[in-house]
Amino acid sequence: MEKELKQIREEALCAVNEAKDLESLQNVSVKYIGRKGSLTLMLRNVANLPADQKPLAGKLTNILKKEIEEAIEKATEKIEADIARKAPGIDITLPGRPAYQGNLHPITKVTEEICSIFLRLGFEIAEGPEVESDYYNFEALNIPKNHPARDMQDTFYVSGDVVLRTHTSPMQARVMEKSKPPIRIIAPGKVYRCDSDHTHTPMFNQVEGLLVDENISFSDLKGILTIFVHQIFDKNVKLRFRPSFFPFTEPSAEVDIECVMCRGKGCRVCSQTGWLEILGSGMVHPYVFEKAGYEPGKYSGFAFGTGVERIAMLKYGIDDLRKFYENDIRFLGQF
Ligand code: DAH
Repeated sequence: MEKELKQIREEALCAVNEAKDLESLQNVSVKYIGRKGSLTLMLRNVANLPADQKPLAGKLTNILKKEIEEAIEKATEKIEADIARKAPGIDITLPGRPAYQGNLHPITKVTEEICSIFLRLGFEIAEGPEVESDYYNFEALNIPKNHPARDMQDTFYVSGDVVLRTHTSPMQARVMEKSKPPIRIIAPGKVYRCDSDHTHTPMFNQVEGLLVDENISFSDLKGILTIFVHQIFDKNVKLRFRPSFFPFTEPSAEVDIECVMCRGKGCRVCSQTGWLEILGSGMVHPYVFEKAGYEPGKYSGFAFGTGVERIAMLKYGIDDLRKFYENDIRFLGQF
């Protein structure tokens, strides 16, 4: 018995020493001290020995079992330490990843730029709801039900008399209803139309302007809008006032600038005309004053509305409007 134990001891400890990886150690463990391991079987056999031999045999076998267990445990720790040492750990000398710096969305930037030009000219900012009543979006602006001008704008209806505003012009009616001239406001904000292609998105941004006082004339409109165009683009850009129609202004004019792409020669962007439309404007229609409750004939004023995306596209030479809203950080990060 003692001889047998001695032999197992030598064999097992030798196998532990020779094991180079965790798997071979596991095999050693199974072979000697596993459920069917040779030492385990010997322990079971102790029960069959004569009574006077049992205590000593049991003791010796148990001591050996413990010894092998400890040897395996030690060897396991050593192999695990070797693996950890060889693994490519953290190289603390590498430079860190730079933190990403955010910036304002180009549309926000251009909106702020437009507003700051008018703030310097003494205008104030007015804000109003994007979910608007039919009354302010249309009726108060001389666009009654069934008026063909409603077709100019594909309206999203929230319910019968509630719409997503199709332009920022309702702010004219809202401001005049609440205050008496002199009025000088600009109203930036989101507007919505059921329209989508490379020059239209269902949501876009406008800035509305309104100036009302006594004795305001078309030359005031021209003066203010010329200053605006020269400041937002550059002071040498050519512009023209072209007769147009809007139900809420009379007379009405659209403002074109010389095409920024071809400098007026004619190209794809300006449809070979050499000009690009950038805003609508006109003298406030008497009907709009009447709806606001102003004394007829006492005041005059002008209004205008411009699309922020359009200005941004021309300023930065962007050909697809939808890029602004695809949230591609590589595009948005350039501004
Ligand atoms: N609301 C018009 C549009 O969205 C733009 C506009 C035209 C606004 C003439 C005005 C204006 O204030 O006088 O197409």
